[in-house]
Amino acid sequence: MEISANTQVLAYLVSAALFILSLKGLTHPASARRGSFLGMIGMVIAIIATLIGGEVQSYGFIVVGVLTGAVIGGVLAACVQMTAMPQLVAALHSFVGMAAVLVAIGTFINRHAIGDLSAVLMSELSAGIVIGAITFSGSVIAFGKLQGLISGAPVRFVGQHALNAVIGVVTVLLAIHFAMSGSMFSLTVMVLLSFVLGFTLIIPIGGADMPVIISMLNSYSGWAAVATGFTLHNNLLIIVGALVGCSGAILSYIMCRAMNRSIINVVFGGFGSDAGGGPASAGAVAADKGVRSASVEDAIYWMEDANRVIVIPGYGMAVAQAQHALKELMELLEEKDVEVKFAIHPVAGRMPGHMNVLLAEADIPYDHAFEMDDINPEFASTDVVLVVGANDVVNPAARTDHSSPIYGMPIIDAGKAQHVYFLKRSMNPGYSGVDNLLFYQDNVSLIFGDAKDTIEGMVTALKGGGH
Ligand code: TAP
Repeated sequence: MEISANTQVLAYLVSAALFILSLKGLTHPASARRGSFLGMIGMVIAIIATLIGGEVQSYGFIVVGVLTGAVIGGVLAACVQMTAMPQLVAALHSFVGMAAVLVAIGTFINRHAIGDLSAVLMSELSAGIVIGAITFSGSVIAFGKLQGLISGAPVRFVGQHALNAVIGVVTVLLAIHFAMSGSMFSLTVMVLLSFVLGFTLIIPIGGADMPVIISMLNSYSGWAAVATGFTLHNNLLIIVGALVGCSGAILSYIMCRAMNRSIINVVFGGFGSDAGGGPASAGAVAADKGVRSASVEDAIYWMEDANRVIVIPGYGMAVAQAQHALKELMELLEEKDVEVKFAIHPVAGRMPGHMNVLLAEADIPYDHAFEMDDINPEFASTDVVLVVGANDVVNPAARTDHSSPIYGMPIIDAGKAQHVYFLKRSMNPGYSGVDNLLFYQDNVSLIFGDAKDTIEGMVTALKGGGH
């Protein structure tokens, strides 16, 4: 069976509309599942319309490729931990980048052989190769940093920015030369330099900024797909690439704004490497004030009789996989007429929406989760706050310590509540490496231990009648 070109265009239009509706659905936890589903339907329509369109000359490679990819993708999706999702996304972006490079080079070789290379096509090929190669090597480095295969610390050396600028300018000149002449030499050096540029651009960026970088690389991979779409005359690939390119760029911007940083600062900053605001200085200031540690029973004592308990989840909740125990705790408290709310910071965890996904996984109702700006005014009238594996997102140093690397980041007003309990394993700082000044406040206590164990202890204590 083969469909006409017009039918294929119509199918692509339906897919494009479904992808846009999918993005719309993904903007809210309540509609995210529907959004994902619409995206999947759009993709199935796109794949079928492509496979039964007129362009396919042989199905052998396609079938092998689709089956291999489906098996690898299925196994990865089933096995990957939520905490490892950012590096998985980075790895997938590297594939998009490499695909753009290979499609462009393959198209060049084929068309060169039959002498069918227009100036427009050559420009598209140049753009696809450069963006794709930068996306590939940049994503590989981002993957390595997040997976701990290479150091997450920013790698800096003198003249780094100048070197990047020189490589960038030479690469662009080679891309122009290749587009005008079709020179194999320019092509080869351009590809190599683009790979190097992806590496040198990402290596100076610290681990804490990696999620923003991954979102930027996501955007790059979208633009690489756009270039490939032009090369292959595939309108749907152009539309999808533009959607990915724009949404990745917008997401990077939103994340930077939530951390009160500029994108330029992220790309050139090396967050977390600033010796001036490290744990030693903040810790030395606060050490003599002492830190209170508390037991599960202490917390239960106040929670049972509270009017309102607010839970602030962070990266540690994801590590401990404490969300299901939290749900049980929430239900037990609600049975005792305690109002339970969840306060979500926009950059809590390690990727956008990280906390929302975990709470949804535990079937905690969406209407219990509140964004930082909406819930901040309620802390002053809240009896108990449970900070579950969060740290940076409640650190008042972001407001008061001008030398701190997180200075300027909006924070959740946890410290204003009557009693604040931190559930964490040690006095270690959060991802930014900055000591938390909240630990030393009079109304704050730390319950040391794995967050899941601690919450399960609370559940048991509540079931047993508490104190
Ligand atoms: P963090 O500040 O990283 O703190 C997480 C805390 O969890 C740590 O202090 C750790 O303390 C604790 N923890 C780890 N495992 C635990 C376990 N099993 N049980 C109990 N506690 C555990 O997390 P956050 O408050 O969510 O802040 C997120 C950080 O990531 C911010 O600095 C943010 O800027 C950065 N970031 C996030 C994003 C996105 S999109 N989410 C993007 C860029 C940057 P112990 O080791 O003592 O247990």
